[in-house]
Amino acid sequence: MEYIIVFSKDNLCLAKEDLFSRLEVQNISYSVKQDLDNAIIIESIAENIDFTDLSHTREVGLCIGGMNGLDVVDFNMYQHLIKSPVNVRVTRINPEQNQDRSVIEKKMGAFLFNLGYKFNLKDPKTSFRVYLFGSEQIFGILIKEFGVSSFSERMPVKRPFFHPVSLKPKVAKAMCNIARVSSGKSVIDPFVGTGGLLIESALIGAKITGIDLDRVMVEGTIANLKHYGILEHNILCADSFIASKSFKDKFDCIVTDLPYGRNTKLDVTPKDFMQQFLLLIPNMLKIGCYAAVSTNVGDIEIPHFLKLVRKCESYIHKNLTKYIYLFKLV
Ligand SMILES: C[S@@+](CC[C@H](N)C(=O)[O-])C[C@H]1O[C@@H](n2cnc3c(N)ncnc32)[C@H](O)[C@@H]1O
Repeated sequence: MEYIIVFSKDNLCLAKEDLFSRLEVQNISYSVKQDLDNAIIIESIAENIDFTDLSHTREVGLCIGGMNGLDVVDFNMYQHLIKSPVNVRVTRINPEQNQDRSVIEKKMGAFLFNLGYKFNLKDPKTSFRVYLFGSEQIFGILIKEFGVSSFSERMPVKRPFFHPVSLKPKVAKAMCNIARVSSGKSVIDPFVGTGGLLIESALIGAKITGIDLDRVMVEGTIANLKHYGILEHNILCADSFIASKSFKDKFDCIVTDLPYGRNTKLDVTPKDFMQQFLLLIPNMLKIGCYAAVSTNVGDIEIPHFLKLVRKCESYIHKNLTKYIYLFKLV
């Protein structure tokens, strides 16, 4: 089976790592057939891939043929995925200028109509897709579409406790995904702030621990967690540089967003803070596990016990770029 995963364009680096991590967590073996920049085509024999938790994806389709070879597509093979009525839509990935969407949709509509499919353009049960990239067109069936999504309900301004340092839930979810947060895993955020990363972790089903030096943040995080029905947690008011040394059990994942800039007072430079934090990771994380760390420091020295898996840049505004590092403790 070939799947096409079309990313939202806000952070392609994070989007790809998010996909690969979700596949790894599910033990899916796959190969990347084509990297189209805004989308990726993967090949896998797995039929039960769960794409639901992807954070930076617009849609996922099952590729069933090239547009020039439609006559040879065996539609019977896909009958279990096709329910009437249907529609057909074009998804533009990196199209050439001269590809007219409506002409392609009409051509495909006529082809499917001749095969006997009933149409409902606005409310179909199955949506056929034509994916356009370069001069190529791939025909597919939409298997998952990500709308505005529940992220909008979890925007920081909608929580009982707000502070400008809050991460957007979409970024927080991607960080959880790349750190391999999954149901039942233990997760720590040693700089918890308003709890954005732990909200996403708990909603995935992880066991959450958070630390913050600031009591207002600790109480705010607890209120925010409660707002989403999350009552099981371990939120401590402490200095992480001290508290992290006393955990009896190490954690499966670290997700954290280090203090930066105007909103947090630091005794050291952000770079020194980052370097000192990296040295704490072995105190908290199990070997072979992942830490997703967001910071405004773009230039770091990586200690020998950490493998840098990915570094993604995230433009926030003209005075702030953040970097999301994914480390594996080796
Ligand atoms: C950038 S904020 C975290 C924001 C969070 N990701 C969110 O979505 O709200 C960093 C937090 O680290 C806390 N902090 C700074 N130094 C600390 C330390 N040594 N130990 C624990 N927390 C600390 C600050 O109080 C601040 O709330």
